[in-house]
Amino acid sequence: MTLLQTDQLIETSPIDVHEASATDLDPLWAAVSTEMRTRANNIHVPISFAYAERLCLAYPEADALVVRVTILLHDTGWARVDETKIITEGFGGDWRKADIRYQHEAYGCDIAREVLPGLGYDEAFITRVTDIIDGHDTRAESHSIEDSLVRDADRLWRFTPAGIALASGWFTMTPSVYCNRLRQEILPELITSAALAMATAEMDRSEALLKIDVL
Ligand SMILES: [Fe+2]
Ligand SMILES: [Fe+2]
Repeated sequence: MTLLQTDQLIETSPIDVHEASATDLDPLWAAVSTEMRTRANNIHVPISFAYAERLCLAYPEADALVVRVTILLHDTGWARVDETKIITEGFGGDWRKADIRYQHEAYGCDIAREVLPGLGYDEAFITRVTDIIDGHDTRAESHSIEDSLVRDADRLWRFTPAGIALASGWFTMTPSVYCNRLRQEILPELITSAALAMATAEMDRSEALLKIDVL
């Protein structure tokens, strides 16, 4: 697949927040703080959110608010799925087709419709958000630039030491086996050239830091 290119500067330094980072969505974070406690959402989602903001700078044609709100809410639905099945079905066997993956998307759309109206978002905006949440994990193709940036941000956190630590445990793989899988399976799924540059830089740093070549 051809990567979506950009003329903009691509920021590949270690992911972080800084003084200028926007806090406009803090009321939305607070509204779903309970849903952030499931499946390490409270680690995954803030890191993926920070990557989404970098991707929005690399692709200014995307509607950044749609991307930021959607990545923030995309996995809240895990909070309403049977927790024991998250590990048994979500990471074992044919995990990509597990029922709970469809359920977490549908519940995520429900949660978006519950919390966004009270924070001032209109129906048209909310539908743009739920159109991306619905299928973010189970639909193969992206439907818009905003959908593409959410998909890439959802994957980018995996290349960080925090992502490797959590996900290698979920899949019961050693970090080195898991890093190999990231390179083989997740890197090729990225849609934008900016995300590929960010992922490759982070993967190189993480593998060196975690001594993947010897451990
Ligand atoms: Fe998801
Ligand atoms: Fe996710």
